[in-house]
Amino acid sequence: MQIITTKKELQCQVEACKSQGKTIGLVPTMGALHAGHASLVRRAVSENDVCFVSVFVNPTQFNNKEDLALYPRDLQRDAELLNTIGAQYVFAPTPEEMYTAEEMNETFHFDFGGLDKVMEGKMRPGHFNGVVQVVSRLFYLVQPDRAYFGEKDFQQLAIIRFMVERSALAGTFGTLQIVGCPIVREESGLALSSRNERLTDDEKQTALAISRTLFESREWAKTQSVKEVEKRVADTINAVEGLEVEYYEIVDKTTLQPTDTFHNAIGCVTVYCGKVRLIDNIQYEA
Ligand code: PAF
Repeated sequence: MQIITTKKELQCQVEACKSQGKTIGLVPTMGALHAGHASLVRRAVSENDVCFVSVFVNPTQFNNKEDLALYPRDLQRDAELLNTIGAQYVFAPTPEEMYTAEEMNETFHFDFGGLDKVMEGKMRPGHFNGVVQVVSRLFYLVQPDRAYFGEKDFQQLAIIRFMVERSALAGTFGTLQIVGCPIVREESGLALSSRNERLTDDEKQTALAISRTLFESREWAKTQSVKEVEKRVADTINAVEGLEVEYYEIVDKTTLQPTDTFHNAIGCVTVYCGKVRLIDNIQYEA
């Protein structure tokens, strides 16, 4: 496995792969890799001739400086994991390699057709602009045939699909296919997240109430309205000491707009467990 730190070297390797007619899978990550990332990489390895994984804590998608500073980083450990699961290339640039000083401070205004006006987009202004800024750059550099994203960040996945399929950039990325992969959970139900590293053992126990409540809510959905279930989920989680719900919204899976039916619906939650901001979601009827 090769670790690449410059865009020039990355493009050299990409060109070499393309000239040999190899298909490329890309898994964009911010590092602090866990079994959820590993499942994306394994899939990318199995569906493509070569797999590139980017490890880059993207400063432009953080609207909270403390969150950026505290984001866990351990490239050595990430590289060891990626090597064992068969990734061929790791792209781990510095922020200065990725962006000019101007780009770092530039405010992008992508049109996401309203997908960014709800939930995470509402709570973290500018977040999805930063995500799309880095993801589109990675797409340009790596020219992947397939790119893999986890469904835990469901809104992010919807926005990236939108960008690729319907925005002004449509056509730019050729036949790029965006592959969404299911949430990976601990046996306890806790959705895997790099942020879990920041939880104490007690907080990890406390956080179990999040997934437990989401799974229970599928039962509640059989007899209660969307509004009632939304309230009951938020109330149940808030009743646990140490947890504070930022939002729980049941939305249409395609438009991400509020819905009053469970058909094609997904419930997305953000909860503070102590100082750590966790997200999770649950899909209702298919
Ligand atoms: O989901 C993430 O880890 C990040 O938002 C991504 C897609 C790697 C962009 O920085």
